Order: sequence, then structure tokens, then C-alpha cells
Amino acid sequence: MNKDKIFSKENKNIDQFEFNEEVADVFEDMLHRSIPSYLSTIETLEFLTKQYIQPNSNCYDLGCSLGEASLAIEKGINVDGCTIFAIDKSEAMVSKCKKNLRNKITNASIEIINDDILNIEINNASIVVMNYTLQFLEKNQRQLILNKIYNGLKDGGLFLLSEKITNKNKLIREQLINLHHDFKYKNSYSRLEISQKRKAIEEVLICDNKDTHELRLKKAGFKNFDLWLQHFNFVSYIAIK
Ligand SMILES: C[S@@+](CC[C@H](N)C(=O)[O-])C[C@H]1O[C@@H](n2cnc3c(N)ncnc32)[C@H](O)[C@@H]1O
Repeated sequence: MNKDKIFSKENKNIDQFEFNEEVADVFEDMLHRSIPSYLSTIETLEFLTKQYIQPNSNCYDLGCSLGEASLAIEKGINVDGCTIFAIDKSEAMVSKCKKNLRNKITNASIEIINDDILNIEINNASIVVMNYTLQFLEKNQRQLILNKIYNGLKDGGLFLLSEKITNKNKLIREQLINLHHDFKYKNSYSRLEISQKRKAIEEVLICDNKDTHELRLKKAGFKNFDLWLQHFNFVSYIAIK
């Protein structure tokens, strides 16, 4: 695994963060060292897939990056006739995802698609995962994609939504951010790397608070949902149609 050193050198003119080739090359390391409990979301997805997968249905990994969530779904599939659709709009990510998943998917068929998730149709779905992707969509597109997910899910289908969040309370918001930065520092990111990455990503990754997420899930039609994970300012929701 290539080590993420993208923000290690001092740079006075930091460019906006992009999911380009430089990022794709170190992304596995970046995910594990930057997102608290990232591995838990992947392991839990495999466990839940075993329970919620339905024969002859589709699974969607929206914003698949290198395909870790698709791989977890694949490991969990214990019925016949399933197809996984892994979608990402970054060409660099999709190209690395194809290499990463080659020869690893044996339980289901997989289609890796280089497109915006807003352009794709969701239908006959028993599993949909959006692991840290909604936060990169324009705010006015977020309800649309949730509606599309709800409408495309079969009854009894599972939606797993993981996000970085903000908090309405300033004191708590700042404390959770500090805890996250300390998590990164303990994972060998320097204070300089942490602050330069923050500058690069702050206008690209726009967080919602829990109330907004929950209102959106309700508006889309979900009645059964709750947080199954919160680690500092990172959360994951389980929602069942
Ligand atoms: C934080 S990464 C997701 C990590 C991945 N889901 C995982 O669990 O390993 C966010 C990904 O979403 C993709 N993305 C952002 N907006 C998108 C959109 N509108 N359509 C498709 N992909 C998108 C980015 O290219 C990036 O690869």
C-alpha cells in the first residue's frame, strides 16, 4: 500500500482537493488513516449483506473509489443471481478499482461504471451503500439521490449511509474536530499535513448535521433507520425499506 504524503510538504498555494491519480494511488492508506472506524463500516456491510441480500437482485456501491465496499458486499452474497454496480465519477478511481477487483469477485457479477451517481438508474436493489460520498454532492442534489435510492430499493432492502458530520453546537463541533485531528496525528499525519488537507478539502466536502440527514431519510420515505456507528464526527446509518 502506498503511503499518503500528499500534504507533507509546506505549500503556500494549496489546490482544491480532487479525486485524481495522485490521490487514487495512495487512497487506501488515506482512508484507513483518516476515517475513524472505516474498517468497521466495511466489515459491518459484509455482515449485513448476508442478512439483507435477496436472490436475483442488484447491489449498488455509490462512489465506490477503489471498491472496498463492493468487495464486502461480494463476500456477503450468499444467494444466486446478484449483480453489483460500482459507480464513481473519478476516472482515476475507476481505473484503479478495476485493477483492484480483477480476479477477486467470484460470487456475483460486477459492473464498474465511470459516471456521476446522479446519472444512473437504481432498480431492483436489495443493497445500496453510500460510504462517505453524499458529502461531496451539491447540497441541492442530496435529497434527489436519497429519493432515487428509496424508490429503487425492494421491500426489505438495505441502505447503508456513512458520512462525516458537523454539529449545531459550536463547543461540541470544535471538540469532535479536535478528536478527529488527534486521531489523524496518532496515525502519523503531521500537524502540517492535517491543516493543509483541511484547507484543500473544506470547500469540497460539505458536511450536514444529524438532524439534516435524518430529515432527508424520512423525506425519501424511510421509516426504519438509525445510527449504528458514531466515532467522533463520523457516522453511519442503517436504513431498511
Ligand atoms: C470518500 S470516497 C468514497 C470511499 C468508498 N466509498 C469506500 O468505502 O472506500 C468518495 C468517492 O466518491 C466519488 N464521488 C464524489 N461525488 C460523486 C458523484 N457525484 N458521482 C460519483 N462518484 C462521486 C469520488 O470520486 C470518490 O471516489
